[in-house]
Amino acid sequence: MLKIHTLRVNQMSQPQYVCLEVRFSWILESSRRNCRQVSYQLRIFRKDDLVWDSGEICSDRNSYIPYTGPELLPLQYYIWQVTCTDCFGEKAQGSDTFCTCRGNGPWHTNWVQPVQQETVKERPYPFGQQQISGPRDYHEFQPTQLIRRKIEIPKEIKSAFLHASAHGIYRVEVNGEKLDSYLFAPECSPYDKLIMFQTYDLTEKLRVGENVIGFELADGWWSGRLGLGSWSCCYGNKKELFMECEVTYQDGTQVYFGGEGAKSTAGATVYADLFVGEKFNASALPQDWSCSGYDDSKWLYVQPLQLPLDHLQPQIGEGVKIIREFKPLAVLKTPDEDLVLDVGQNIAGFLRFSVECEEGHEIVLEYSEMLREDGRFFQNIMGVNKDQKDVYITKSGKQTWNPQFTYHGFRYVRISGWPGVLLKDFFSVCVISTDMEDIGDFSCSDSGLNQLQKNIKQSQTANTISIPTDCPQREKAGWTGDLAVYAPTMLYLSSAEVFLRRWMLYLRKEQFPNGLVPSVIPYWEVCREISEILGSHTSCGWGDAVVLVPWAIYLETGNPSVLKENYEAMCLWIQYVQSEAENHFPENYETFDDRKKDRQKYLWNTGFHFGDWLMPGIIMAGGKPRDTAYATKELFASAYYAHSVKIISQAADVLNLPGDAELYRKLYEKIREAFIEEYLDGEGRVELEFQGSYVLCLKFGLVTEKLRPMVLNHLCRMIEENGYRLDTGFLSIPFLLDVLCENGRKDIAFKLLFQRKCPGWLYMVEHGATTIWESWNCISEDGTVGAYSYNHYAFGCIGAWMYREIAGLRLLEAGYRKMQITPGIESGLSWASTEHRTPYGRVAVEWKRQGGKFQMNVTIPTGTSAEIFLPDDTVEIKGSGKYQFQCTVDEFL
Ligand code: BGC
Repeated sequence: MLKIHTLRVNQMSQPQYVCLEVRFSWILESSRRNCRQVSYQLRIFRKDDLVWDSGEICSDRNSYIPYTGPELLPLQYYIWQVTCTDCFGEKAQGSDTFCTCRGNGPWHTNWVQPVQQETVKERPYPFGQQQISGPRDYHEFQPTQLIRRKIEIPKEIKSAFLHASAHGIYRVEVNGEKLDSYLFAPECSPYDKLIMFQTYDLTEKLRVGENVIGFELADGWWSGRLGLGSWSCCYGNKKELFMECEVTYQDGTQVYFGGEGAKSTAGATVYADLFVGEKFNASALPQDWSCSGYDDSKWLYVQPLQLPLDHLQPQIGEGVKIIREFKPLAVLKTPDEDLVLDVGQNIAGFLRFSVECEEGHEIVLEYSEMLREDGRFFQNIMGVNKDQKDVYITKSGKQTWNPQFTYHGFRYVRISGWPGVLLKDFFSVCVISTDMEDIGDFSCSDSGLNQLQKNIKQSQTANTISIPTDCPQREKAGWTGDLAVYAPTMLYLSSAEVFLRRWMLYLRKEQFPNGLVPSVIPYWEVCREISEILGSHTSCGWGDAVVLVPWAIYLETGNPSVLKENYEAMCLWIQYVQSEAENHFPENYETFDDRKKDRQKYLWNTGFHFGDWLMPGIIMAGGKPRDTAYATKELFASAYYAHSVKIISQAADVLNLPGDAELYRKLYEKIREAFIEEYLDGEGRVELEFQGSYVLCLKFGLVTEKLRPMVLNHLCRMIEENGYRLDTGFLSIPFLLDVLCENGRKDIAFKLLFQRKCPGWLYMVEHGATTIWESWNCISEDGTVGAYSYNHYAFGCIGAWMYREIAGLRLLEAGYRKMQITPGIESGLSWASTEHRTPYGRVAVEWKRQGGKFQMNVTIPTGTSAEIFLPDDTVEIKGSGKYQFQCTVDEFL
């Protein structure tokens, strides 16, 4: 049986409003072994008309096939149909629909501004560590704005589409009805350069007569508080709306309704801020305000604006929504008599609750990730505007509420002002994230590792809210370095390609003309200020995201267009680093001998860098995060320079640019030579001895073959001296276990993995973590609970290693056309399994051993092959299909 499934247009599972450059992908699945696609035929229909027939194309390609028919029309629903033939002559067919987005034609309307008080411009000290003491009255916060746009429809319509965006974030209703379940439209982007608009099909929603389109606008990323420093008004201080509703009547005439003529008033949301939280006064919400017939005579007309419209761009990818809802675990009473809801795990989102009572109760929800070691409530995120607090003022009767314009990172919620007895059944926990599909999983016989795997996924979910963020509470910011190390794991677990490519677009927009890639994307004003204080807008490892993220996407998908799209930005970044290396020299440069002077131009050894950020040895000895940066930055910057240059040379090969490939290969060699001479002595020792330094030397090839075993020995010695505990920060941790495995020391890699003392992944797990922590000692060995973030995905980059080295699935060719399966029995586990939806279909590996017996089930997708290494040293090469292998193993291995 041959089947076609997972039909995708531009890699989207719900292809609504896709751009006019369309690419098709599908997965072919067969019950026969060694199946390959030999041809495909694509046919596109609009209603019953055939728009394009590709004819039968002899090809084994099943992804990113470009549409090459006559130009597609904007805002049209199309049906696409694919027919494939496999190498046995069997055929299969699949079909799906998609809708194209608005074309590039000029807009007929402009932005409008409700009459409102300005949001106060707050500029607390950007490191934001000072705690506000005492209660605050939030007088400086402004309410949301409700906007009513009446639309008169005189005759039957053929189609109607609404395009909307906001300076702020919005929700929309038409004739009292919600249009979708997405949150925080138009989402986060570098608003000064690009802002997305969303499109809604109103064809079935508008009726002849009066209709109302209702918006509620909140501060969001436009004027709300942002980042570590919690600055408000990073883009503007007033909320504004853009809307255009294009209606085509049955008689073919067209009309465009803009925001002009709409009326507005303050909403029942007293304030809403992504960081501080939301306050809602239920009885102040005007009934049926977005329905026709509502009396808006007291509302004020919005002001028309004349703003440039070229930043507006159709929504790319999926939006943010509630992806899971579950019941909390328990209501706790703390030693301080506080009532605290424990939802059972750390998440990003909010609570929803139902209550029946009279008007005027003020229910306060304060969200936190941790309780103190003695069970008391505390806010683990310190600083100005980090309140994470929602307030709800009841109306009378039965009511259900959840905030709409904020989210929090939390496991515990202190609840005060609850009318009556507080029961957990009144609540549900709403987990929010960008809507992506789960495409990877891992489990094994060790419950600690399984929990670690869950924690990784959990932190990813919490940090993929519109943009990839560092954490869902303190900063909610697109720190580039965190993603640079985590991207491979994210791409294995979720269909993150579109999400990450969208963020790369933002990165390209924010790149400086000289090639510098800022450390945070979008580069909010508050983040700029932090950079000014640190003395640099970028850092090694952080700016390198411009190279590392597209490369990770390419490896996962096999799609060279992601490299093409980013190639110029990658090269520009290297130009920037190169000019830094060539034009800035260390302080005592004059004292260097000629040879040393000469190699300085290949070393990036000046300026500020985050380096091996949060290296535990320094932090646990009482150092500050910045000390980890200062200690490691020089060697790390030169090493990452080499690494990125090497990857660009490989990208140039993929893009068939042999000249560039050669140029970058030569540059890499120069950096490598300079690095070895500068940092390694004849015994393979580095002067500033850190585990991470040795890891990078080994991983990035910054050793000679003679030095390699010595460097490895130093690394192993340091690990041993540290009691088999890791001492690596953000930039070296993704490679720590890899270099040990690649260089024949799997034994040490597994000792580190199974380490239950701090620092170690299972240390977190054994201390009750349900997400990945920012710092290994968030809870110290004596049980002290620290004021850190408990939800940073960076150290979760170990995921990619577990899938590769324990379950044993490796890719040999970008996009998994060729794989290698090498079960990690050295782990000592009795079984492990992984599955992953590759572009060709699902690959699954499931192995177990019992005494001297080893058994493995493998599923290989259509059109691919795998080299399978069995523990008895036999190697088999298999095409697609399901297989079972058995052999004997040394019982003591
Ligand atoms: C963030 C990190 C980020 C870092 C820069 C922190 O405050 O939370 O994850 O990468 O700053 O070093």
